[in-house]
Amino acid sequence: MHSAGGILKVTRYADGSLVVKENFNVNKQLVGITAMLKAANFDPTDRNWVMASYNPAGKVLSFGKVGSCIACHVLVRHQDLVFAPPPTQLLPITTWKAFFPKQEINPVYVALIKHHPEALVR
Ligand code: HEC
Repeated sequence: MHSAGGILKVTRYADGSLVVKENFNVNKQLVGITAMLKAANFDPTDRNWVMASYNPAGKVLSFGKVGSCIACHVLVRHQDLVFAPPPTQLLPITTWKAFFPKQEINPVYVALIKHHPEALVR
């Protein structure tokens, strides 16, 4: 672990760690929840994270070793597959487009990239 501007950056999360993210659209409505749980020996090649996504009603949309989640999160392998805390880890627009070709990119995110070019994950 090391500190970046008062925020702790973790390079290895302990077994049992749970990270939950609520995802909102531009109208601030909850559109989904993604979570990752560190479970000992679950999937050693991908750092033992169980990936899960839910709709706002709590229905499970994906769970387990989810390739599409991992494909993106390996970009921050040096932080144990965890991007947080933004905005220190920003994905290039081309990467977002490759994963979500039909989605608009949040203008707030585009502005963050513009103001924090040093934070782009390469
Ligand atoms: C296009 C790349 C991409 C894909 C695909 C993706 N994520 Fe993420 N994820 C990110 C980025 C970038 C962040 C940090 C920025 C943010 O919070 O929006 C993040 C944040 C998270 C977080 C909060 C912890 C952290 O890493 O900061 C969780 C939990 C999470 N994602 C789970 C998932 C799950 C589960 C899936 C698959 C269903 C998934 N993600 C698919 C890019 C991706």
